[in-house]
Amino acid sequence: MKKLYIAANFKSHKTRTDMEQWMDVFDAEYEKKELDDKLVILAPAMPSLMFVSNRLLSYTDSFALSVQDLSPYPSGAYTGAVSTENLEGFNVDYAIIGHSERRTLFGETEENISKKCQEALLDAITPLLCVQNAETPIPQGVTIVAYEPVTAIGTGHADTPEDANNVAKKLKERGVHTALYGGSVTSENVHTFTSLESLDGVLVGGACLDPHEFIRLIQNA
Ligand code: PGA
Repeated sequence: MKKLYIAANFKSHKTRTDMEQWMDVFDAEYEKKELDDKLVILAPAMPSLMFVSNRLLSYTDSFALSVQDLSPYPSGAYTGAVSTENLEGFNVDYAIIGHSERRTLFGETEENISKKCQEALLDAITPLLCVQNAETPIPQGVTIVAYEPVTAIGTGHADTPEDANNVAKKLKERGVHTALYGGSVTSENVHTFTSLESLDGVLVGGACLDPHEFIRLIQNA
């Protein structure tokens, strides 16, 4: 049985109080049992990181914490940036890097993305590298890549499972170990992606914001 990654990218949504309510519903309605075949990764907005980190302490190893971005530099005079060292003690195991919103809205370059991946790897944080096609550069050492076509992100128009599988297959031919799909994944369509041979999971945006929908998504994956 393959291990399925289900990563929840909360983007800049939710106040700290909203996140508390989200975790309360999740706690109450979802049994935090060991999920043999699934790893659920939560990537909240930075101000909620400590809170979510603390709440996850009572969860099993089937749940992990991620940041949504990372500084391309070590600690130092880099105003506004969060380095891997700044994250010490938060139990952050993953970092989403190169999300298309950061590439387009924040002008992130391949060079920057590569530096961020190297910073993460130096501190044993696993990059979840987002790419928009099968040809996007993959920095050395990156093992998990999420294929996220821009036309599918936040639009309600998910890619076809066939296309997602083809891109995942090509990424694996390039040495990627774990390939995820992201873009308008919901509890209704998640299985059409997770059941594909070359896909190992999903990166979810909008569908994680409602904890009931996210629970359904985990169950249906
Ligand atoms: P979406 O976002 O699920 O809302 O399309 C996915 C993502 O941006 O990672």
